[in-house]
Amino acid sequence: MAKIGIVIPAAGQGKRMGAGCNKQFLKLRGQPILAHTIRLFEESCHVSQIVIVGAEGDIPIIEELVHHLAFRKVAAICQGGVHRQDSVRAGVQALSPTIQRIVVHDGARPLLTLQAFHNFLSETEGFTAAIMGIPVKDTVKQVDLSGKVIQTLLRDSLCAVQTPQIFDHGILEKAHYKALSAGYYGTDDASLIEWMGCPVQVVMGMQENIKVTTPEDLWLAERILSMRDVRGSKSEQET
Ligand code: C5P
Repeated sequence: MAKIGIVIPAAGQGKRMGAGCNKQFLKLRGQPILAHTIRLFEESCHVSQIVIVGAEGDIPIIEELVHHLAFRKVAAICQGGVHRQDSVRAGVQALSPTIQRIVVHDGARPLLTLQAFHNFLSETEGFTAAIMGIPVKDTVKQVDLSGKVIQTLLRDSLCAVQTPQIFDHGILEKAHYKALSAGYYGTDDASLIEWMGCPVQVVMGMQENIKVTTPEDLWLAERILSMRDVRGSKSEQET
C-alpha cells in the first residue's frame, strides 16, 4: 500500500456548538473529541504521518494533548486559516514530500472506526480522488434567500458527503494551489478536484461517522459509543 499521510483540520470556531470554545476540545467519554479522531489514525498500521491543523490560540492545547496521549505519528501541528480550505492547505504543505496518498479527515468526526477506515483505503486504491458518502434520507430542495423553493432535487442522485477523503499527493497539492490562485473556495477538498474537471469517486460511508457540530450531535455521539459497547459485549458473549 502507498505511504499515507493524514491531515486533520481542527481550526474551526465551532460557533454552531455554542460552547464558547473550539468544539473539538469538548469531552466525549471523558476525552477531547479531537483525541478520539487522532487515536484512530495513530492506531492504523497503514498511516505513516499525521498533521493536525489548529487555530492559532489552540496550538499549545493541541501540543499538550499530543504529548500527554503520546501520539507518536504526529509530525506537525500547524496554524489554520479563515476557511477550512485554508487550514487543509496548510496541513498539506506540512506533510513530508515522501507521502504518496493524503487522507483529509475532519477533527470533528471522532466516530470513524478502524475497520471502516481500512475498508475505505482498500476500496479507493485505484482512484486518484475518492470520498465517503451516504445516501440522502430527506428530500432536498434548493431555496432562495427568502425561503421560496426553486427546485426539488432528485433524491436518488444525491449523497451526503463525509470525510475521510483520499487523494494522490500531487493532485491535492495542485488543486489547492490552483484554487488559491483563482480565489475559488469549496466546502470540501473533493470539490476542488471536481472544479479542475477531474473525477472523484464516492464509496459508501458510515451513518455513525457524524460531524459533531451541535449539542445534539454530542449527545448522539455518546449514544453511538454506548451502542458500540453493547454490540461489543454481545459479540463477546456469543464467542
Ligand atoms: O466548518 P466545518 O463544520 O465544515 O468544519 C469541518 C472541519 O474543518 C472541523 O473539524 C473544523 O475544525 C475544521 N475547520 C478548520 N479551519 C477552518 C474551519 C473549519 O480546520 N477555518
